[in-house]
Amino acid sequence: MVARNLTKRFGDLVAVDHLDLRVRRAEVYGFLGPNGCGKSTTIRMLCGLLSASEGTATVLGHELPGEAEAVKRQIGYMTQRFSLYGDLSVAENLEFLAAVYGFKREPAQRRIKELYEQYRLGELRGQMAGTLSGGQRQRLALAAAVMHKPELLLLDEPTSAVDPQSRRDFWESLFHLADEGTTLLVSTHYMDEAERCHRLAILDRGHLVADGTPSELMAALPGMTLRVESEHPARLMHSLRQQAHVLGVAQIGASLRVLTDRKSDAASWLTSTLLDAGIEARVEPTEPNLEDVFVAVTRKQVEAT
Ligand SMILES: Nc1ncnc2c1ncn2[C@@H]1O[C@H](COP(=O)(O)OP(=O)(O)O)[C@@H](O)[C@H]1O
Ligand SMILES: [Mg+2]
Repeated sequence: MVARNLTKRFGDLVAVDHLDLRVRRAEVYGFLGPNGCGKSTTIRMLCGLLSASEGTATVLGHELPGEAEAVKRQIGYMTQRFSLYGDLSVAENLEFLAAVYGFKREPAQRRIKELYEQYRLGELRGQMAGTLSGGQRQRLALAAAVMHKPELLLLDEPTSAVDPQSRRDFWESLFHLADEGTTLLVSTHYMDEAERCHRLAILDRGHLVADGTPSELMAALPGMTLRVESEHPARLMHSLRQQAHVLGVAQIGASLRVLTDRKSDAASWLTSTLLDAGIEARVEPTEPNLEDVFVAVTRKQVEAT
């Protein structure tokens, strides 16, 4: 799947701004960014549900705009909100959907049986979809999205309403699909989910601000991450936020995590800077994570505008 210059305007608002993307076959590709950065809008354009203001995309060999109907038929799409029938049972929802996809009776029953097993829905088959728990609903929504075995599956914040255990199970299902050759594009605002993706794009107010594998993104960080401990973390946090070269500060338990734009001398630089300010602190380098990447790239974006 390739997108070139994909752009969506709503009046004066540029919701998606000249996005270039390349998603490879059978990879789990993440879309990371805060609310309103353009994830859903991009996914809807790639599904052929929303027409772009500018730009083109090739999805499963079909050109967008133009071949939107073929794209809609062949992809799988799971929306941010539960979009099945709450007053139909699990079985009725799947049977209805199989009919929509044009399955005959026998193949429909075979496929639904597979889905019961794969997504642990067999025991729930008689239950109204509207009474399922968050995790069960997501399993049903995923089963529905893959009914026709799409080669490309787009999932828009699929786990935002489920508990941590169900999130882990759900991600196992996604990797299982990728192992079988399905290409997945998943949007999320959870860092831990983004870290699991083969590759990801970070979006900020409609712009693509970084993309690559999680380790490439971390290796490309312009500075160094430090762990800082002191007697007065709150006071320390305050003075760190005033410092030049400090891109971000977060409190993790009793210590602070500080992202600086300085390289190898970062720890000694910060120790002496704090001492000059009368603060005694223990400073040591620590492994960067995706949140540091996120802070660094969105910060760069703010400074450029
Ligand atoms: N149909 C619409 N009409 C007007 N503005 C919209 C519409 N859909 C989305 N937006 C705006 O576009 C921006 C991106 O939204 P969205 O793609 O939903 O972001 P995300 O999914 O990352 O939270 C937001 O500012 C949102 O308010
Ligand atoms: Mg959204």
